[in-house]
Amino acid sequence: MPTDSYEITANAKINLFLRVNGTLPNGYHRLYTVMQEIDCADKLTITIDSSRRGFKINCFGRSDIDPEKNLCKKACDRFFSNYKKLKDENFVAPYTEIDLIKNIPSESGMGGGSSDAAAVLVVLQEHFGQPFSEEDLLRIAVNVGADVPFFLYGGTCLCERVGEVIRPIESLSGLGVLIGKPKAGVSTPECFALMDREENKPFDEKAYTDYIESLNVLYRNSADMLEKLLAKSELLVNDLEAPAVKMVPEIETIKRAFTNAGAEYCCMTGSGSAVFALFESRGEAAAALEQVKDVPALSDCSLYLSETV
Ligand code: C5P
Repeated sequence: MPTDSYEITANAKINLFLRVNGTLPNGYHRLYTVMQEIDCADKLTITIDSSRRGFKINCFGRSDIDPEKNLCKKACDRFFSNYKKLKDENFVAPYTEIDLIKNIPSESGMGGGSSDAAAVLVVLQEHFGQPFSEEDLLRIAVNVGADVPFFLYGGTCLCERVGEVIRPIESLSGLGVLIGKPKAGVSTPECFALMDREENKPFDEKAYTDYIESLNVLYRNSADMLEKLLAKSELLVNDLEAPAVKMVPEIETIKRAFTNAGAEYCCMTGSGSAVFALFESRGEAAAALEQVKDVPALSDCSLYLSETV
């Protein structure tokens, strides 16, 4: 019985805030961010056939995805080469075929490609009987992409350095999320490069450490969650937002529309170009969606209703 098939969903994320705290020797930026899983998801069916060789990806819902550049392919390649190195030098990678239904918008900062790649790693880890330790899998994940390690955990996590130092914190699940994605996306490396040309904003590590401790508590309900999250609104910034706005000014337009619709907090996620707003419930986010869906300035944007997981 050489063929196995696995179905898995791959949720998106938002960055509740994102600070850049200098650069690392490899040129990557040292991040300090809270990532939050949301229930906007891609779906993958992964078929592994050990009687054959090769790789194929079939992508549904999007025509602009190059299979060779897709992070699922990179995840397979990295997993198999590490497996060969660590476990069995005679190992030959099996035929792997992935049906990918894309719902998460690309170049949005919502981590779609990274989440798909993490789903592939999770499936391969299961298929091969958990060959890698948590630490080894994290190392493989960050080599696939900076956001991939987070998706091995999901939920609510403080992520540091490139994104591989991860600390799960108390879940902020059940908040309503409204997302607006401008037609234009933002390229992550271009966004970081543009940010590097601006003056660095100071990063008060102690203030953030205290803030994370204030978030890592049991919440009474969603109102309490939002209150604690917004208590330090001066810390809720995304350092990549200003450079992204220079490339895609619609980011500001969406923020204004969401604020006018009653959002207490909205921010760009990751390196953009999607903007999210948080609400106490999915119902409140849906009401805000009703208010903004016919705003002429947003006619080119895609709007999504979601919820924190
Ligand atoms: O690892 P990933 O492919 O997601 O990163 C895309 C690009 O974003 C990198 O090539 C790098 O230019 C930039 N990046 C960075 N610092 C990070 C994460 C990403 O400079 N922590």
